Amino acid sequence: MSVILGIETSCDETAASIVVNGEDIRSNVVASQIAKHSPYGGVVPELAAREHLEAINHVVSQALHDADMKIDEVDAVAVTNGPGLMPALLVGVSFARGLALSNDIPLIGTNHFLAHIYGAFLDCGVKELEHEDIYPMISLVVSGGHTNLVKITADGKAEVVGTTIDDAAGEAFDKGAKLLNLGYPGGPILERIARNGDKKAYAFPRSLTGAGGKKVTEGNRFNFSFSGLKTALLYHCDKLGGGDKVEGKVLEDSIASYQEAIVDVLVRKTKDAVEFFGGKSIVVSGGVACNGPLRERFEMVFSKDYNLFLAPKKYCTDNAAMVAGIGFHYYQKELFSPLDIDAYARLPKISNVPFCQSSTAGQE
Ligand code: KG4
Ligand code: ZN
Repeated sequence: MSVILGIETSCDETAASIVVNGEDIRSNVVASQIAKHSPYGGVVPELAAREHLEAINHVVSQALHDADMKIDEVDAVAVTNGPGLMPALLVGVSFARGLALSNDIPLIGTNHFLAHIYGAFLDCGVKELEHEDIYPMISLVVSGGHTNLVKITADGKAEVVGTTIDDAAGEAFDKGAKLLNLGYPGGPILERIARNGDKKAYAFPRSLTGAGGKKVTEGNRFNFSFSGLKTALLYHCDKLGGGDKVEGKVLEDSIASYQEAIVDVLVRKTKDAVEFFGGKSIVVSGGVACNGPLRERFEMVFSKDYNLFLAPKKYCTDNAAMVAGIGFHYYQKELFSPLDIDAYARLPKISNVPFCQSSTAGQE
């Protein structure tokens, strides 16, 4: 039995979790800073770091307490060391370094982006990942920082085949909500208001999909672009007298149509990638994967003919269970980090994942 303590501070959640053998979640503590950042319409990195500092000791103690464990029962500390907001990451990384050093246990730096993918497997169990027939797997990671399509083969080789050339899907939700003066984070707020709206009321652009007869270059076939959509919402609001003047049914219809454009693009691009790369399964994770209409559409389009792994909602937004979960696979392969491990802000080139049975992670 391998007990991993996961720590996550890459953005605006301070989180800690105890996971046994990569799937048995003994505790999952998340302290959200949303209320602190909300007045600014987005996450303020220095404020996030200060809040993490304030919360981290308590959050980690709570995770141990909920799991009914002491730190000397923990086999390794896994921590998100990137990508993310640098001041925020440094708090978790420094804390994890201290824990590893003072308790003489290994430190494991984990990639936040790969941890989001792993989040889709936390409830169904790692055994799913051992079935060769689920590969190649096409994974869509949609969060505030990422919109990427990743192809993963049974040997753990991974390739980012599509990415956003401007805003991430989560940013499209957040910036849309900011424009309409509705608060932060935009995703859940827009989803709630869209429920009463007509998604066909207004035509918003579906960039890089070929919609409206616009040609898509081969290089952009699996790429995303959401900045045109945001600009279209801005013009739409201007015509109606400005973002804070849009109200009632018009507001509901506008948001439902805007959300529909995001969902439509994500599903279409994923479908094209699945067909092109001969994908056998589809994984959807990251904060935007909480979105109800998005989940319904993925179910509708893929669940009949493919294995569909939609991350459980509680593991879509930032949490440390996915960190401790993926950390177990590094632990098994003894892929430990040095105690002077660094944090990094941007997503590095991804070439493999550690969680496939015959993964070659760490061998190249
Ligand atoms: O994964 P996450 O917690 O943090 C990052 O790694 O970025 O994702 C946060 C993003 C935010 O942009 C937020 O608006 C979006 O996920 N989000 C949603 C929903 N819940 C969170 N987007 C659409 N619908 C939701 N229900
Ligand atoms: Zn995240």
